[in-house]
Amino acid sequence: MPALRLGVNIDHVATIRNARGGGHPDPVRAAHLAAAAGADGITAHLREDRRHISDRDIERLANEIALPLNFEMAATEEMVAIALRHRPHAACIVPERREERTTEGGLDVVGAKERLRPMVARLCEAGIRVSMFIEADPRQLDAVREIGAPVVELHTGAYCDHGGAERDRELARIVAAAGHAQAIGLECHAGHGLSYDTVKPIAAIATVAELNIGHFLVGEAIFVGFEASIRHMRQLMDEARRGAAG
Ligand code: PXP
Repeated sequence: MPALRLGVNIDHVATIRNARGGGHPDPVRAAHLAAAAGADGITAHLREDRRHISDRDIERLANEIALPLNFEMAATEEMVAIALRHRPHAACIVPERREERTTEGGLDVVGAKERLRPMVARLCEAGIRVSMFIEADPRQLDAVREIGAPVVELHTGAYCDHGGAERDRELARIVAAAGHAQAIGLECHAGHGLSYDTVKPIAAIATVAELNIGHFLVGEAIFVGFEASIRHMRQLMDEARRGAAG
């Protein structure tokens, strides 16, 4: 079974910093700590309103960290230009609405194919590995493949938000979509809302190559420290993977 990577999203380190202005806590320092704790990559979302990560953060992350940077971005000309300037390892295209609290729901690739196709091409030509953050819907996966992005990230928010039978249904959709991704040649990632309680069934899906996790890890860091929260998440992911292999 392929290894499962952990991308640590550091947006909310910047949220805490921005609550008071100034430079503390520093997201770049958090990225170095995440590397020491076993993260395989760093994810940061430069939102249109700059509510957490700033342009300067992206510049510093691109220049100062050794781990691959996954740049989360809306499908806008401004963000494409920033991605092309810094050339992160990866760019994950996400939907963005100004009034939302977080990224609610996946990108409608089916409905925006013709607008997204040239953006994906420009990013890919620059050597950036492009992923698209979508719902676990085979039509969306097919559209991603059609416009030439090599990676999808499946939105796990609904799975995390629900309990009981509804959660089981959401998990079954994600499992099916991860299988479909492999069948059509897409690398499959997953994320949003994952915690110690919800990570294992997602980590156990053999065709998922990477999880991106942020809010829970930063919140848990208040109680146990950032390194410890990441190490524990990593351990749960590895246990789930071993269990699924066995
Ligand atoms: N993946 C994507 C594409 C996201 O937009 C986010 C949130 O920014 C995450 C993963 C991480 O979600 P969370 O912070 O809830 O762990």
